[in-house]
Formats: sequence, structure tokens, C-alpha cells
Amino acid sequence: MRLFNALSKLVPPPSYIALPSMGVDISDTSLKYVSFLPSLRPEKVKVLDVWGDITIPENVLQRGEIKDSKTLTSVLSEFKDKTKADFIRVSLPEERAYIFETEIKKNVPVKEIHSLLEFRLEENVPISAREAIFDYEIVASDDKNQTAKVVVAAYQRETIMQYYEACRAAALTPLSFEVEAQAMGRAVVPNNMTDTVMLIDFGKTRTGVGIINNGTLLYTSTIDIGGGQLSQVLRKTLGDVAESELTAIKNTSGLIRGVEDTRVYESLISIISVIKDEIASRMQYWHLKDSNRNSRRIKKIILCGGSVNLKGLPEYLTESLGVSCVRADVWGNAFRTDLVVPPFEKRYSYGYATAIGLALKNTV
Ligand SMILES: Nc1ncnc2c1ncn2[C@@H]1O[C@H](COP(=O)(O)OP(=O)(O)OP(=O)(O)O)[C@@H](O)[C@H]1O
Ligand SMILES: [Mg+2]
Repeated sequence: MRLFNALSKLVPPPSYIALPSMGVDISDTSLKYVSFLPSLRPEKVKVLDVWGDITIPENVLQRGEIKDSKTLTSVLSEFKDKTKADFIRVSLPEERAYIFETEIKKNVPVKEIHSLLEFRLEENVPISAREAIFDYEIVASDDKNQTAKVVVAAYQRETIMQYYEACRAAALTPLSFEVEAQAMGRAVVPNNMTDTVMLIDFGKTRTGVGIINNGTLLYTSTIDIGGGQLSQVLRKTLGDVAESELTAIKNTSGLIRGVEDTRVYESLISIISVIKDEIASRMQYWHLKDSNRNSRRIKKIILCGGSVNLKGLPEYLTESLGVSCVRADVWGNAFRTDLVVPPFEKRYSYGYATAIGLALKNTV
């Protein structure tokens, strides 16, 4: 799903789709980019070309909404100066995405599906078809009945246009836009995995939740708590400590309960337990919604985002949610990390999952 069709007058023709391009993940507080060297043999091990990140000043974006497009354009211009990129693939914030599933008759001609879904859109999301840009994917089903499940992802037209125009103002050409969890899934869900997995993106300002089945994003949601709140609560307990020191505390003692001094543990768990409850309620919603479909049960939770470095986090979530939670192998679909040495340490890699997934779009 590329949220591409309705932009066909704006984006270049399909022959451009194979052009070398860079994955660009725009979060509220950072822009991260990745590209692989072009390869004519997509099954070959990918070779990383360029990567990096640029800090986005506060209040330029809020919960994925562009508040200051001029400053965003200057961040994108800085990115362009650094990388000399022309074509980019851009992620869109899951906070602004509307995703729903519906059914259509299997005999509907492909060219009629889009207009059929326009009617369904208004029944399912709070935006009219006129104001929306949407794309869909037919979910593979082996059912014998006459209908096929379709998943639709929609955004306010204005949301996408703001991103599009900020890119164009920086002389960049977006080849596609994608919901960030969809791109993240391309990087971190192993290519051959058919189980349903939940993706958690524990960033700085918020925690994204996505559910992926057979490579398709079926659900997204946002929890308004991120790693920034962990720092805040630690500062309340420990005083005015530098951010780098807080990062070290998160990484080395984290959720491990001290024997004499339990203050760090107690501060962190007060936030993490809220995130855990929010994840649990989304899992419960998902399982009740599709209670009779075993293939839709969440078999695994994959953790991404810089804040998943928190020591003890996968163990705590596995124990309290009853589902195996693991930190992501963000390079897993690009190259084997036992054969190729990744360009930076694992702890820096978790925040790059979305940008890597966007860059992989090029090569698959
Ligand atoms: N090595 C690390 N150890 C511990 N925490 C880290 C590490 N690296 C980053 N973080 C934390 O992760 C957060 C940044 O994560 P990430 O890069 O995924 O966020 P972001 O994409 O910029 O923000 P968001 O997605 O919330 O808008 C920060 O709160 C930072 O303190
Ligand atoms: Mg992020």
C-alpha cells in the first residue's frame, strides 16, 4: 500500500518507481534517512549506501501534524545538501492514518474497486472521500466464499499534501508515501513470516502500535507516551541529570530492580506499566474483533524505536503480556548480520527501522 494512486497527477510515472531513492522517516523530533546501493538482483544481499539523522526543532511537527512547514522545508533542504538525494520515499505518521478492513465481492473488476471503496470510506472513517487520499490492499484469503477482505489506509488529503509540498519546496521528489508501521514491518518482520505480529515503535514522544499480517498493515494506533517521559520521571527522582547519563541509566539498570535502591526501577515502571496496559488493551480489542481466526492472533511482538534499549523491557513485556516480545533485527531483510557487520551499534539501529523499510521498497 503506497497511498500513491490518488497522487498520480503529482508523482512521477511508474517508470520512475525503480529509480534509486532514499527512505526518509520524518518523526516529530527527527528525520532519519537510509539508502541501499541500487541492485539489479533484488535477491542479492543489500549494500548500505547512505544513512544518518537530522534533529527537527521542537514545535515544527506535533503528533505528526506539520505546524511549521518553513522550518520542515529547511530541515529537508539540509538533508538534500548532505545526501544529494533527488527521489525519496516518505513515511507518514500513524497518528494521522485511518485504517479499516472491509469486504468486497471477488468478481468486482479491479478498476471498479477504488470507486466502490470510496463509498465504504465514509462509513468507516471521519473524512469524506473528497477530502481523503486512500489506497487499499486485498488481503490474501483462502476462504471458499465469494468475498475478499480488503484493508484500506486513508489520510486527509491535506495531511499528505503538506508533506508533499514541504518536500517539493526542498527540491525533493517523493516517489511514494507510506504509513510508517507498514514501512517498519518491511524491515523487521522476516520476509517468510506469515504469523500475525504486533510492532511497537517506542520513540521519543510517543509509542506507535501496528499489527501486521502477511506483510500487510491491518491496524495502527498511538500511545501518547515516549522515552521523553522516562527521562522526565527519572529527573524527578534523581535531580537534574544530563540526558546522556539518563540514557546510560536506562540502558544499564533500567527495569532491573536494585537490591538497596529501587528508585530508578520504581520511576521507570510507573511509566512502562501504563504503556504495557495500553498495549494489552489494544491486543484484547484485536483478539475480540477476530476471535474466531487463529491466524489473526498475535504470535509475537517486535520492539523498535530508540527507547526499546531500556534494559529488561522485552522480558518485562513478555512476562506481563503473555506473548514473546523481542527487540527488532532491523537489518534482517537486508543482509545477514552474521556475515555483514552493520554500520552502527545495535542500540542505534532500533530507531532506524522505518527508514530502512522505506529504503527496502526500492529493492524488492
Ligand atoms: N542508545 C540508547 N539508549 C537508550 N535510549 C535511547 C538510545 N538511543 C535513543 N534512545 C532514546 O530513544 C528516543 C529516541 O528514539 P527514536 O529515535 O526512535 O525517536 P524518534 O523517532 O525521534 O521520535 P518519535 O518517533 O517519538 O517522534 C529518545 O527518547 C532517546 O532517549
Ligand atoms: Mg520515530
